Amino acid sequence: MSHMSPTDLDTLRTDFAARIDQAADLRALDDVRVAALGKKGEISLLMRGLGRMSPEEKTVMGPALNGLKTDVAALIEARKAALEDAALDAALASETLDMSLPVGRPQGTLHPVQQVMEEMAVIFSDMGFSVAEGPDIEDDFHNFTALNFPPSHPARDMHDTFFMVPEPSQNSSGSDAAVGQKVLRTHTSPVQIRTMMNQKPPIRIIAPGRTYRCDSDQTHTPMFHQVEGLVIGEDIHMGHLKGCLMDFVSAFFETDVDVRFRPHHFPFTEPSAEMDVRYERDGASIKIGQGNDWMEILGCGMVHPHVLSACGLDPDQYQGFAFGMGVDRLAMLKYGMPDLRDMFAGDPRWLGHYGFSPLLQASLESGLS
Ligand code: DAH
Repeated sequence: MSHMSPTDLDTLRTDFAARIDQAADLRALDDVRVAALGKKGEISLLMRGLGRMSPEEKTVMGPALNGLKTDVAALIEARKAALEDAALDAALASETLDMSLPVGRPQGTLHPVQQVMEEMAVIFSDMGFSVAEGPDIEDDFHNFTALNFPPSHPARDMHDTFFMVPEPSQNSSGSDAAVGQKVLRTHTSPVQIRTMMNQKPPIRIIAPGRTYRCDSDQTHTPMFHQVEGLVIGEDIHMGHLKGCLMDFVSAFFETDVDVRFRPHHFPFTEPSAEMDVRYERDGASIKIGQGNDWMEILGCGMVHPHVLSACGLDPDQYQGFAFGMGVDRLAMLKYGMPDLRDMFAGDPRWLGHYGFSPLLQASLESGLS
């Protein structure tokens, strides 16, 4: 090997160039690459031989071998690109798609959460609501402070909040730092704040979206979905709240549903209530609307004057109601899914079973589901 000369390398270069040129497909090309530059390839072995050469020989052969290696590698790359182009051209020529054919059986399905959010949007838009949105990454002000959570109130912790860096200060004493603290929103209620700060009453919105709490078991997942509702005007009262939500549940469950309102506490509403629906257990399944048991399905109340003021609205002029509900739980109740965690496991068999056709749109005329 020590009597290799740069001229011999030229022969080798011509030889490899021809083999690269003749490689008919990517596989054959890779065989040539291995034969030349692989661990035991011809060029690699020659380079390893450099160590045994005299310094004079090395000065000549070193650069020559490096040049050869670079040239061969470049030729392989070029041939590879050409072969890939040819393969793409062949595929484009042989695989055609007739865009004018009718749609066959769709491959994907709508996730039940998506379906239920659309059903809700249909029901509420029929009552004159529009859909509002807010960011998943919120700040303390919109998620807590403006919603009348007192600065050092344990509710901030009760929500099992995911705080973003920087870490929350040891004591949340209501400093400016706490107000700017970013969190993953623990509920969709901050969209109320964003809406009231950005538009003038009358307001009638729902806000569907993702929410986050550090919690995981059969009925809790760290990410879940809520729909928030907000109505603001000059003469809105509790009767409007009740009528609106009673109409909503009957439309949603597609049957007459008996409800009751129970006093409750939320910092952002006064008075506050939870709404229960009548239900009964029928073996493993749950029938909503009849029976002797009550199940809580949402929180609601009259918007607290502090919340209106925080948004720049005069509580003596405006009032309204708000509500919030868990979409995933309502989907489970309506469509009989037993475990919340399955909802987000991404198992195609589960989706095939519980998913909805993306071609059938929820509408009040043709039926929601
Ligand atoms: N934000 C509450 C929660 O996540 C739900 C809620 C209750 C929203 C009452 C409201 C409301 O707008 O009025 O638990």
